[in-house]
Amino acid sequence: MRSIWVELKSGVTAVLSLFAVAGIAAIPTLAQQMPSLAEDHGRATLMVDGAPYFLLGAQVDNSSGWTDRLAAVWPASEELRLNTLEVPVYWEQMEPVRGAFDFTVVDSILAQAQAHKVRLVLLWFGTWKNGKMHYVPDWVKSDTATYPRMKSKAGVPIDVLSPNAPANVQADSTAFATLMRHLKQADPQHTVIMMQVENESGSLGLVRDFSPTAQAIFDAPVPADLVRALNKRPGTWSQVFGDDADETFAAWSVSRYINAVAAAGKKELALPMYVNNWLKSPRAFPITTVPGDDYPSGGPTINMHPVWKAMAPLIDLLAPDIYVPNSENYRSVMREFHQPGNPLLIPESLGFEPFPGATGYARYLYFAIGDGAIGFGNFGLDRLHIDQPLNQEMRAVVEGYRLLGSFTPELAALNFAGKLQTAVEEDGISQKELHFDGAGGPSNASGNIAWRVIVSFPPSYDPPAAPVSTTSDTTALHEGRAVVASLGPNQFLVAGIDCRVHFALPLHSGSKQPQILKVEEGRYDGATWIPTRLWNGDETDYGLNFGGKGSLLRITMGSF
Ligand code: DGJ
Repeated sequence: MRSIWVELKSGVTAVLSLFAVAGIAAIPTLAQQMPSLAEDHGRATLMVDGAPYFLLGAQVDNSSGWTDRLAAVWPASEELRLNTLEVPVYWEQMEPVRGAFDFTVVDSILAQAQAHKVRLVLLWFGTWKNGKMHYVPDWVKSDTATYPRMKSKAGVPIDVLSPNAPANVQADSTAFATLMRHLKQADPQHTVIMMQVENESGSLGLVRDFSPTAQAIFDAPVPADLVRALNKRPGTWSQVFGDDADETFAAWSVSRYINAVAAAGKKELALPMYVNNWLKSPRAFPITTVPGDDYPSGGPTINMHPVWKAMAPLIDLLAPDIYVPNSENYRSVMREFHQPGNPLLIPESLGFEPFPGATGYARYLYFAIGDGAIGFGNFGLDRLHIDQPLNQEMRAVVEGYRLLGSFTPELAALNFAGKLQTAVEEDGISQKELHFDGAGGPSNASGNIAWRVIVSFPPSYDPPAAPVSTTSDTTALHEGRAVVASLGPNQFLVAGIDCRVHFALPLHSGSKQPQILKVEEGRYDGATWIPTRLWNGDETDYGLNFGGKGSLLRITMGSF
């Protein structure tokens, strides 16, 4: 991926100064910049309106990308301070008759988002939705001769379109390209910042297509570009991939298909595009499960990433939908998907409904930020009924969003610059320690620790505990979280919930002692910091204690 941030930063500054000299407002020009992905020193961000952007999002229910249904979710969106909503758009709605397009619903989604000052990620429910084809128009469903299905070895069709039939990819690409052409003229301000191409692609019901057309391709040698990309020896699919031949063939078929759909769309409007993944082992990661049975075969599961990266270069990233009710496993999935060239985006996460066996899922957003994610969305915003009393779990989710929503531009910029770390409460761990070097980066980058930031759970007015992680009697909910960012030497921004934050000098600092010079509580108004009060006395003498509603602090430390 291109690293454009440095050029952009100086370019934007230059453009702004030019406009300032000429007395012309710069904003309209910036607002029309195409959203893009930027990567620098292994960190990534979305660039929106010329600045780093953290996608603080949520996804609406599957049947909520409709005018009236969508209208009902805005109170929850406002309560969470979302900057982005993920909304499905449906091929069956958009092209009810072949070649006749209806964009009234899309236009209404755009208008509602603009009225609420929220950006959009549109989810293209086309050929695939959760490993099935239920969102294709009925003229596709009814004409199996023109639009072939996947077939079993016995020739029995299933309700998944064949990824090996040119007519299918052609029909989907035409529809998607028409949507992107419409967005180009209907949304010049880029309310839509990114597109999800299909939804949890791959097939449920069969590991691959066994129709005569697909079988002929399967029996032929593996295409040379794939062999080369995967550094394999030439041969047939079975010879090259052995037991994984069927799934690899499926991934090759699906990834090329989706790349063609994305290519047709990007030709019209080159927004960033990603695919989301139904994990290989969603409930009990990591165990082996059966492709086409336990999860859609051929989708961008972790074992198929090399195939996807080689065959779908126009897909900017492969994103995990994480419904894993265990914090360690959750983080394992994040780490697997977050690779050089594959920025971390979590488009779906458990969060707006009780989930069997899950507690403390309000923290997952903070794990994602700590891992340098470019965005995060809980699934099912419709289920957040803010007009009704919320249980403790849901309150924790809401407060976590609200706190971050108060400073997402700074959050994005600091994270992209490598100045931000998080500490998140986990079972059995009462304390986490973050290290910052003198320049404000993570200390392990230079080995030179300037500040130790000790985050303990839950908040407490007892004397600070020993400065090491210890076994804990943490709260049952495990909802303590802190974002700590360096604003410059000895200056920090801290957003915390249900924890205590304490600044300490490196071990072996001799007689030197730390002292707080200033703790300002406040908020951001755009890029401007508005202090609302100073913390001192009981609010600072026992460490900085953050309650369940969370606070945003700017802290200046010193030593004597
Ligand atoms: C994952 C899918 O991608 C969503 O569209 C939705 O069906 C959720 N699962 C439901 O949990």
